[in-house]
Amino acid sequence: PVKIVTIGGGSSYTPELMEGFIKRYDELPIKEIWLVDIEAGKEKLEIVGAMAQRMWDASPYDVKVHLTLDRREALKDADFVTTQFRVGLLNARIKDERIPFSYGMLGQETNGAGGIFKAFRTIPVILSIVEDMKELCPNAWLVNFTNPSGMVTEAVMKYGKWDRVIGLCNVPVGAMMAEPETIGTTLDKLIYKFAGLNHFHWHRVFDLDGTDVTGKIIDAMYEGKDSGIPANIHDIPFFKEQLKQMNLIPCGYHRYYYRQQEMLAHGLEEYNGIGTRGQQVKQTEAELFELYKDPNLNYKPEQLTKRGGTHYSDAACETIASIYANKNTHLVVTTKNNGAVPDLPADCAVEVSAHIGSAGALAIAFGPLEPAQRGWLQCMKNMELCVEEAAVTGDYGLALQAFILNPQIPSGENAKRVLDELLIAHKKHLPQF
Ligand code: NAD
Ligand code: G6P
Ligand code: MN
Repeated sequence: PVKIVTIGGGSSYTPELMEGFIKRYDELPIKEIWLVDIEAGKEKLEIVGAMAQRMWDASPYDVKVHLTLDRREALKDADFVTTQFRVGLLNARIKDERIPFSYGMLGQETNGAGGIFKAFRTIPVILSIVEDMKELCPNAWLVNFTNPSGMVTEAVMKYGKWDRVIGLCNVPVGAMMAEPETIGTTLDKLIYKFAGLNHFHWHRVFDLDGTDVTGKIIDAMYEGKDSGIPANIHDIPFFKEQLKQMNLIPCGYHRYYYRQQEMLAHGLEEYNGIGTRGQQVKQTEAELFELYKDPNLNYKPEQLTKRGGTHYSDAACETIASIYANKNTHLVVTTKNNGAVPDLPADCAVEVSAHIGSAGALAIAFGPLEPAQRGWLQCMKNMELCVEEAAVTGDYGLALQAFILNPQIPSGENAKRVLDELLIAHKKHLPQF
């Protein structure tokens, strides 16, 4: 009997997770699920927790959903711990977005100054969760969804010294769900190979004879077909000549780098108009929780697809089922590089195609990247390493270095001002600084 603990259980995504577990019950026989939250999320936890129990009650399976604010009580003897918490809730995200935008820089939840500060707030919390796990469930797996997912996962490995961790994102799932249809085939007839970092990966696709079909998919992207781009990213097309040159499909987030001017202009327009993504999501979240209050609702509502993280349970639940049942499934996850991407250190975290089984994730070799991709990748990884170390040590100079390395932050006085303003705005969640 499997015990699952979900930290940040009050998330509006929790019904996704329940749906994924219900679908996989035969291979993953869960006995109890513990949803953990904090005082500030108590009301959300109670609403979505009751909804989660209704989903199980409507299924053929006998599973109890426990709700608690006591993380340690929940972690005792857990088999799998999933993390989906947001330190400071959406109000903190909105500050991460609005302060950089007020200086004409991108304000985004996982990119630029906002993404760096989300890491600063989150890494101390994830490391304290790891310390509890060492004591209370030393054999458990940590399946992290909390953003910035790549950096948070890497911090767990490097600073938490915890290797039983896998980082997840729904973006690769979205691509693999949408792309086969654009070239008139299905996923089981294709081989996908991903390499890079979380929200900064590329992929190549082959048919079962080994013929490269990446170029065909790229062509289809320009015929107006759905590429699986997440709902939170404004769809400015990539330059086709660039994609053809690299013969790789970038992830949706590469738009912030390959079309930086246009993405920034769009972000600033929203900032000055309808509000940033975080402000928009506040509305969607309120609507979702109104639905969850309905005592007759016992399935995941359609409205959840308005959130950028839709389909994430396919990654999370499949990862857990694959570890538990030693399935050796191909999934795209954040895990230790071990040479899969030789342009990066062997001990760093990468987001790559991997085989998932009882030993965890084994990265599949991708091979070296061409200079244009390699340059970006090494800059971004080294920026991430500075962020993680600064998140642990609270070193102001290193935080500034990370800012100056980050391609979304022009260097100069304003970089320092944005850093200082964010430090003040988030003071209560940054004990290390
Ligand atoms: P949310 O704002 O609903 O937060 C989820 C819950 O976390 C809240 O109920 C909150 O009270 C709780 N929480 C905050 N601090 C906590 C702590 N210290 N311990 C326990 N619980 C705590 O967030 P959301 O929109 O559901 O997103 C949750 C997280 O998942 C975010 O970090 C978000 O960026 C991330 N996310 C990741 C992906 C991905 O692809 N990896 C996709 C979507 C969202
Ligand atoms: C997906 C990503 C997440 C991201 C989220 C934002 O694109 O994979 O990592 O942060 O959606 O969605 P939201 O609806 O909160 O803006
Ligand atoms: Mn993601």
